[in-house]
Amino acid sequence: MSHREPEVTVLLAPDWASGSLADDVRRGLTRHPRTLPPRWLYDDHGSALFDQITRLPEYYPFAAERAILETHADEIVTASGATSLIELGSGTSEKTRLLLDAFTRSGQLTRFAPVDVSEATLREAADQIAERYPDLEVAAVVGDFTLHLAQLPAGGRRMVAFLGGTIGNLYLEERRAFLGAVADVLEPGDSLLLGTDLVKSADRLIAAYDDAQGVTEEFVRNALVVVNRELGGDFDPAAFSYVPFWDPHMERMDLRLRAEVPQRVTIPGAELVLDLAVGEEIRIEISSKFRVSRIAAELEGAGLGVARVWTDAAGDFALTLAVKS
Ligand code: SAH
Ligand code: AVI
Repeated sequence: MSHREPEVTVLLAPDWASGSLADDVRRGLTRHPRTLPPRWLYDDHGSALFDQITRLPEYYPFAAERAILETHADEIVTASGATSLIELGSGTSEKTRLLLDAFTRSGQLTRFAPVDVSEATLREAADQIAERYPDLEVAAVVGDFTLHLAQLPAGGRRMVAFLGGTIGNLYLEERRAFLGAVADVLEPGDSLLLGTDLVKSADRLIAAYDDAQGVTEEFVRNALVVVNRELGGDFDPAAFSYVPFWDPHMERMDLRLRAEVPQRVTIPGAELVLDLAVGEEIRIEISSKFRVSRIAAELEGAGLGVARVWTDAAGDFALTLAVKS
């Protein structure tokens, strides 16, 4: 079938992977605990690993969110009244097709704008969606959702979808800034559809982030590979062990790499030399888990009123539709 080619706008600067990563590495790896922002996990290899994670039996969030969309996509579409769907951190947009199918049934959507830092994954997803939904204008944006919200396609009644629980990968202050920025760019009547993983037993959470096949471990280790490639670093990923744990106070998974031997790491692209003692840890990612009441409070604090909350039958995951008043 003939279809419109997706339009792709690149908002990331050409040196984004080196320049911005160097800043993050300098800032993150010199403080304690040492950290790295999660957007660097998604080079081509990292995106492929995440795709594998979504198919692991232990990784329930993907299936749980898909189950909510399978049951409620039509209600979500109707409640949003949206004519334009913007998806942040869209990845493969696999589950989003359930929303797009519902929008096709309702006939109200004219534009779909997926936004991701992972250019190859985004282009492939946009091509497939343009082919599958030939009447839709597909306007993909290679961009950073912490930087580029104000430059996303405007016009129509917009729904911003942020699925997968990716908001849980932001720290509290980043989350607050992000929700505030989303509220700032929305017009009254526009909405945010937010996917959040919910607090549950530590056993299930740990299993989901410490899978038997070791895919998540490789995904986390890949952060060091990215730093080596982009900034000429000499991290030896094999000199670290993978330490995923549940932090019950912060209600978040904390995914770290721990130095197993004393080591000096040189990262020329960030003008950094790190001396790591045995047992020193680098926090690669957090994955916060939520309670429905807290999601509502955070959204409302940002100026977004909760219209509806949907959960899966097991109560593992929530999708919240919040409207800008
Ligand atoms: N929404 C999909 C994918 C989630 S994985 C799902 O629910 O399955 C997280 C996605 O967010 C990845 O595709 C990653 O490349 C993207 N991402 C991470 N940080 C980002 C940022 N700062 N700006 C834009 N995209 C980002
Ligand atoms: C993208 N994000 C919601 C995933 C999560 O569950 O926090 C990333 C991930 N990290 C390890 N496994 C999955």
